[in-house]
Amino acid sequence: MDNRLVFLTALLVTLSWMSVGTYAGPTTAAATTTAAATTTAAATTTAAATTTAAATTTAAATTTAAATTTAAATTAAATEAPPIMPNTNVTTLMTAINRTDCGDEQLCAAAPSDCDPSTSSSCFFLAAKQIDGRNFEFGLSGESDGYIAATLSLDSELGGNDTTYVCANNGSGVLFFGALLDNGMLTVKELEVGSVKGKIDGNKIQCTFSATVPRALPTRTKQFALGIFKGAYNSTDGTLGSPIVLLKSGLLDLTNAIATVTNVLTSPTTSPTTTSHAITIQKSLTQALLITVGVLVLTVL
Ligand SMILES: *[C@@H]1O[C@H](CO)[C@@H](O)[C@H](O)[C@H]1NC(C)=O
Ligand SMILES: *[C@@H]1O[C@H](CO)[C@@H](O)[C@H](O)[C@H]1NC(C)=O
Ligand SMILES: *[C@@H]1O[C@H](CO)[C@@H](O)[C@H](O)[C@H]1NC(C)=O
Ligand SMILES: *[C@@H]1O[C@H](CO)[C@@H](O)[C@H](O)[C@H]1NC(C)=O
Ligand SMILES: *[C@@H]1O[C@H](CO)[C@@H](O)[C@H](O)[C@H]1NC(C)=O
Repeated sequence: MDNRLVFLTALLVTLSWMSVGTYAGPTTAAATTTAAATTTAAATTTAAATTTAAATTTAAATTTAAATTTAAATTAAATEAPPIMPNTNVTTLMTAINRTDCGDEQLCAAAPSDCDPSTSSSCFFLAAKQIDGRNFEFGLSGESDGYIAATLSLDSELGGNDTTYVCANNGSGVLFFGALLDNGMLTVKELEVGSVKGKIDGNKIQCTFSATVPRALPTRTKQFALGIFKGAYNSTDGTLGSPIVLLKSGLLDLTNAIATVTNVLTSPTTSPTTTSHAITIQKSLTQALLITVGVLVLTVL
């Protein structure tokens, strides 16, 4: 009796050890995974710490920048460039609107992104170049039988009476309108715009103009969201049809020529995968179950 019990116990202990041995591979792997996870967690913590530090630095920088901007604004208030005198008479544009100065002297937005309005047959394009303070030189190009338009929004929504510059095809020439965009409709309004040049080539409309852009919060560097539209124009009664949006940007700094303008209308969405986590948990559960059964068997004996 005693001998049999001793033998049985020995056999079970051996079996338990063997089972642990059999699963030594996954156990080691799991250990490695855990170690890796720990390392990642540590790395994340470090990254978070760094981010916090960076955020602090940025905050400090922003404060300094804001202070500088305020100072600059105060100085500028006294010496600010005079606004553009409204004059929407159009002269002929002799050059072709193109990408040459993009990312260097002028900020460019385009749909499709990076298309060249001087060569492409389908390219909606806006270029902005700071002249002095709130005075900018704009270039607008696109294909439409009616009009093309560019909107400057002081928030990330296009609408709510946002300043809009419209270049329309009136038969053979370009007509310019200042307008406010609200609730998907354009209402013509005189804006601080001058030096308008334009040309029509088939359905391609190109125009350049100088404009004094709306005054934004001086403490904010990313002040405007851009929109490019097209729509119908009735040359008989001069009405502008509802605008169709072709490009919408996030808030950006209009004076930063090197900025890349992303069209948020077509930006893809991505979601992270969780597969590896599930596998790790499954392995751990199997091992825990085996060890528990082994301990239980030993306890019963
Ligand atoms: C615009 O053109 C018209 C006709 O050519 C002219 O009478 C008018 O003075 C011009 N407006 C400005 C502001 O130059
Ligand atoms: C390209 O655009 C620039 C202004 O950005 C203009 O000065 C130049 O003449 C244009 N080139 C052509 C070939 O039209
Ligand atoms: C836009 O302007 C019009 C006319 O001034 C006004 O009636 C309307 O309420 C304004 N819309 C917004 C969103 O401010
Ligand atoms: C638009 O063009 C037509 C001729 O095609 C002309 O009669 C009309 O005066 C033009 N409208 C304006 C506002 O220039
Ligand atoms: C343009 O406007 C006139 C006058 O309101 C109207 O009779 C005509 O049908 C309109 N044309 C188009 C293409 O909508």
